[in-house]
Amino acid sequence: MKILITGSAGFIGFHAAKEFLRRGWDVAGVDNYCDYYDVKLKRDRSAILRKDARYFERELDICDLDGLRAAFAEEKPDVVLNLAAQPGVRYSIDHPFVYQKTNLEGFLNILECCRHAQKRPKLVFASSSSVYGGNKKMPFEESDQVDSPVSLYAATKKANELMAHVYSHLYGMQTIGLRFFTVYGAWYRPDMALSLFADAMLHGRPLKVFNHGEMRRDFTFVDDIVDGIVRVVECGSLPAYDIYNIGNHRSERLMDVIETLAVALGVEPKLEMLPMQPGDVLATYASIDKLRAAVGYEPKTTIREGIPVFAEWYRAYHG
Ligand SMILES: NC(=O)c1ccc[n+]([C@@H]2O[C@H](COP(=O)([O-])OP(=O)(O)OC[C@H]3O[C@@H](n4cnc5c(N)ncnc54)[C@H](O)[C@@H]3O)[C@@H](O)[C@H]2O)c1
Repeated sequence: MKILITGSAGFIGFHAAKEFLRRGWDVAGVDNYCDYYDVKLKRDRSAILRKDARYFERELDICDLDGLRAAFAEEKPDVVLNLAAQPGVRYSIDHPFVYQKTNLEGFLNILECCRHAQKRPKLVFASSSSVYGGNKKMPFEESDQVDSPVSLYAATKKANELMAHVYSHLYGMQTIGLRFFTVYGAWYRPDMALSLFADAMLHGRPLKVFNHGEMRRDFTFVDDIVDGIVRVVECGSLPAYDIYNIGNHRSERLMDVIETLAVALGVEPKLEMLPMQPGDVLATYASIDKLRAAVGYEPKTTIREGIPVFAEWYRAYHG
């Protein structure tokens, strides 16, 4: 079986590719190495994957429709896992057009390539907990209304869910969207709060703590996310179209997360309390009942176990 993973040099793509290789899949990677964050980190992840002869990677932009068509024709994947995206809630305030390009046009290219493939692959794609916007009812359930996003990033992810629904409805393609909840782990993205906190702590700078620390996030360890992805990819009995949360089902207080990280790094943090940032949401909390019922998903890693793994990697990689 072959899986084509877009965003394969990214944080989640790297971990997913490694696991599919371990499980005996052939993996075709696609990544454009955009410089949203340090490209060396992406190259270092890719170098690890390239050691496996069953991994083949193309440096390709999913907005390049001809290039993508050629990749689909050559690889003939059984499954496509679309993780390539412009992520980041705050970044979308100053850089809206890159979200239009990669998250909308690029995603449409993926749908078109799946539609016209000789053997239509199953499409599994990354959505996000951000689609829940400022919803107050907790935990967030897939059946909740998600018509009030508060960032352009969230709006593009919701758009992906709608676009996939159209393609499943019109062309009988199988498309499954996964709403990831704040993923973290080794080989982490440098733009995410945990990395920014670790950097500030290790350099003795104050941590920028938004909304005076009054925020909660469902932090999900990357191995649990990958376990959920694998279960969805390998399950033969899912419907033609569906959406699932993948979270940890634990909504952690931001101040507890900071304390756990400080203990793992052995430092006393200095805090700079700041107001809420535009585009941010107060809390996320995933109901995982639907994914549990569909594929037996059961996240295993608490932040007390996962944050030390991240901290150890962070020290080793960033010195
Ligand atoms: N990390 C999280 O907490 C989180 C939460 C919710 C949703 N997601 C979603 O999960 C997916 C993976 O996120 P991640 O954290 O691994 O991010 P990431 O930025 O580390 O990975 C994305 C990868 O896609 C590549 N990419 C970007 N634009 C591309 C394009 N036009 N063509 C080809 N490749 C392109 C990037 O170079 C990068 O390597 C994204 O769709 C993201 O929106 C992530």
